[in-house]
Amino acid sequence: MFNNSCVLVTGASRGIGFAIAKNFGHQGAFIIATATSDDACLKLATILQEDNIQAKVLKLDLGSTDSIANFLLEVKELNRPVDVLINNAGITRDNISLRMKASEWDDVLATNLSGTFKLTQGILKGMLRASYGRIISISSVVAVIGNPGQANYCAAKAGLIGMSKALAQEVASRHITINIIAPGFIETDMTKVLSEEQRAFLLNQIPSKKLGIPDDIAHACLFLASPQAHYITGQTLHVNGGLYMQ
Ligand SMILES: NC(=O)c1ccc[n+]([C@@H]2O[C@H](COP(=O)([O-])OP(=O)(O)OC[C@H]3O[C@@H](n4cnc5c(N)ncnc54)[C@H](OP(=O)(O)O)[C@@H]3O)[C@@H](O)[C@H]2O)c1
Repeated sequence: MFNNSCVLVTGASRGIGFAIAKNFGHQGAFIIATATSDDACLKLATILQEDNIQAKVLKLDLGSTDSIANFLLEVKELNRPVDVLINNAGITRDNISLRMKASEWDDVLATNLSGTFKLTQGILKGMLRASYGRIISISSVVAVIGNPGQANYCAAKAGLIGMSKALAQEVASRHITINIIAPGFIETDMTKVLSEEQRAFLLNQIPSKKLGIPDDIAHACLFLASPQAHYITGQTLHVNGGLYMQ
């Protein structure tokens, strides 16, 4: 389905981002994948190559404006217009609000929201020239239901929803769709930190009685990036086992 497409996935070294890169790669796409360190880039490039996925792996730190600018130059030098941008990378710095340090707030907002906007702005220029594009940003169920200890993360993830709706209206007439996927709780490094007690409490809240897997999010990305989804824009697709129903 994605032969000849170029798909850029941020934070592709692990978890959900890796599943997204792998799924698009298996559908024939050329993948531009990112990780934050040289080691992670090398490891990811090897894994993708062993899986016969055509890819270029580049270093990107969304918390640094210089890193984003440098990355955008590297993407330009590849001479491959990006058809699909998946804004997947994200971090957490959890703390209850009264104890939250300014740096914990700033890091999460800078990486998850401001960095994602700056990258999107850069990639959007090429999509406008091509008069085609698909942008999907990975938010979270907690953007709409909240979560104690995650005021910074909830604010950033809710910001992505507003940002995407505004951008979607600006570029809809140019055959560019911009949507959000809001995962519930998915088995990755990010949720490994949950204690047995927290996990049991969570499972009790989820009607399907299980956490999702990274492929569940990747499959939703494949759908929203497909030509068949051309009339869907500015939407949030919740993938959460029923934890939250709109
Ligand atoms: N897991 C869940 O239950 C869940 C639920 C809702 C939403 N989400 C969202 O889904 C996305 C992926 O989550 P995940 O669970 O797969 O996360 P993860 O396993 O922690 O992986 C995070 C990815 O982001 C990259 N990354 C970290 N800091 C970065 C930075 N400053 N700049 C650019 N990339 C950076 C990491 O690269 P390195 O390997 O180089 O560190 C890694 O590839 C995130 O946006 C997360 O908020 C996850």
